[in-house]
Amino acid sequence: MAYEKSLGIIKPDAVERNLIGSIIKIIEDNDIKINQMKMLELTSSMAEEFYNIHKGKPFYEKLISYMTSGPVVLMVLEGNDVVKRYRDLMGKTNPEDAAEGTIRKLYAKDTTFNSVHGSDSIENALTEISLFF
Ligand code: RTP
Ligand code: MG
Repeated sequence: MAYEKSLGIIKPDAVERNLIGSIIKIIEDNDIKINQMKMLELTSSMAEEFYNIHKGKPFYEKLISYMTSGPVVLMVLEGNDVVKRYRDLMGKTNPEDAAEGTIRKLYAKDTTFNSVHGSDSIENALTEISLFF
């Protein structure tokens, strides 16, 4: 099992609803280390670069306007197998499909306003971290 990094984001809908502390508690209780953290409002160009892979998809414009609608919390997460472990902890993109106890099952509103991001591979994690840290 490899020691990895992942980029975690607490998205604007969760910050708006005062869920920063609750989400961080779940992360820390699951033995994931937060080694860097900052809060900021993404500009459109930052959000577009970050979600470049989704450019052209039907939900892209909505996604960019959501991610720039208020401040986010950016976190460098570290630990053994952290990319998969944090994705599992977040739950499926659509909270209706997310397992009980996952962050999205607990807090996400729907498939778009789904409260958290986590890198989906070791390679993407390093690229995403380098955008913000
Ligand atoms: P993320 O990248 O944010 O960690 O989420 P994910 O891997 O679970 O999902 P992904 O397919 O990468 O989608 C990125 C984000 O776009 C929004 N989305 N909206 N049909 C829709 O309305 C829709 N599909 C995706 C969500 O905010 C999703 O997390
Ligand atoms: Mg994704």
